[in-house]
Amino acid sequence: MDQQASCRVCRGRLREFLDLGRQPLSDAFVDPSGSGEEFFYDLVVAACTDCTMVQLANEVPRERMFHEDYPYVSSGSATMREHFGRTAEQFVQRELVGPDPFIVELGCNDGVLLRHAADAGIRHLGVEPSRGVARVAQASGVDVRVDFFELRTAQEIEQERGKADVIFAANTLCHIPYIDSVLEGVRSLLRGGGVFVFEDPYFVDILEQTSYDQIYDEHFYFFTATSVDNMARRFGLALVDVERLPVHGGEVRYSLAHAGTREPTPAVAAMIAEERGAGIADIGRLERFAEAVRTNSTNLVGLLRELDAAGKRVLGYGATAKSATVLNFAGVDSGLIEAIHDSTPAKQGRLTPGMHIPVRPPEAFPDPYPDYAVLFAWNHAAEIFGKEQGFRESGGQWILYVPDVHVV
Ligand code: SAH
Ligand code: TMP
Ligand code: ZN
Repeated sequence: MDQQASCRVCRGRLREFLDLGRQPLSDAFVDPSGSGEEFFYDLVVAACTDCTMVQLANEVPRERMFHEDYPYVSSGSATMREHFGRTAEQFVQRELVGPDPFIVELGCNDGVLLRHAADAGIRHLGVEPSRGVARVAQASGVDVRVDFFELRTAQEIEQERGKADVIFAANTLCHIPYIDSVLEGVRSLLRGGGVFVFEDPYFVDILEQTSYDQIYDEHFYFFTATSVDNMARRFGLALVDVERLPVHGGEVRYSLAHAGTREPTPAVAAMIAEERGAGIADIGRLERFAEAVRTNSTNLVGLLRELDAAGKRVLGYGATAKSATVLNFAGVDSGLIEAIHDSTPAKQGRLTPGMHIPVRPPEAFPDPYPDYAVLFAWNHAAEIFGKEQGFRESGGQWILYVPDVHVV
């Protein structure tokens, strides 16, 4: 674990504003029979006083997070399957229109997006270091290079296959501390008129919803149009479009192009102006957010203790990476939440990182239904409420903690 003395993007001064304490790796689910030691790091969030980029103060080595057994599978929700289906279609219609177009995706995971390119016979390459999910993509006909994307990878891809018309990254660019190497690679690999599109959780949504569970080891950067615009300029690129997305609790899709090749849409300047109003670079605003995080956490533990004292049974739903921050910061273990139900095979039968709450399949959730269930996958609420109507019908109530702790 390396302590960052300065901004990872511009070397400017970092100002820390939120300390979430000692945390385990958010996706390191524990084998109950194993004796493996857990890795912990200090989860501290800082903002750069120069370029405004919000980032973690400590970096976890990438091989500890992204490897053969990385458990997250992108196709695990219908919402995200549909989202990436639509995204692929837009690329095919708007960008992949020249002769023999080529799309490269960073962090293609199980191929949820690129399988549409593969099916349409479009030249594509996924770059994905986590071998387990990469194999799933390969099995569905997607061409994957099992590797970390960085300058070296970009140069090799360019030599082997030529330049890309589209480079895409969903929920991946914010995972990469060495973003300078990635952007140098993108600048080189991207064709002159091409576009680099990435989408990640939007820091303004995190601020305004107190969705501090977006903060964990893998989420190193918390982008805004302001910080991305500043960053793009440093690498000869320009921010040419922004679009808010409803997925994952609020994201922004950023489009970058080589400087001078595309006219920025009015949405870019509008979002940057709005962000000034939202106080993204105002330390007072950031400190109020930190206070709201502590209050949220205290309220959640308070409610869980009350329910425990009243003899109520409480389960969790969605063993998300996000939940690791909430559970470990508040110190909520299996005494307060008996188990967490999750559809991901690689998480089932394991224990949550740090707090060691057992993870069980959704099929066991009604067996019998609890009195309350904490929805950790709150970003998939519509889909999960739809599937689990029986829980409400049995008299059960959902506990949510975004934007504040409440029962529905
Ligand atoms: N794009 C998918 C997966 C997001 S999870 C989705 O939106 O659902 C983040 C993914 O990024 C993981 O599969 C991880 O293995 C991958 N990743 C991490 N560092 C990377 C890097 N340097 N280059 C490419 N992929 C990376
Ligand atoms: P995410 O918020 O990072 O996408 O993670 C969602 C988690 O919730 C993932 O582990 C899968 C799980 N999940 C279910 O268990 N049931 C569901 O219906 C959905 C949509 C997700
Ligand atoms: Zn900076």
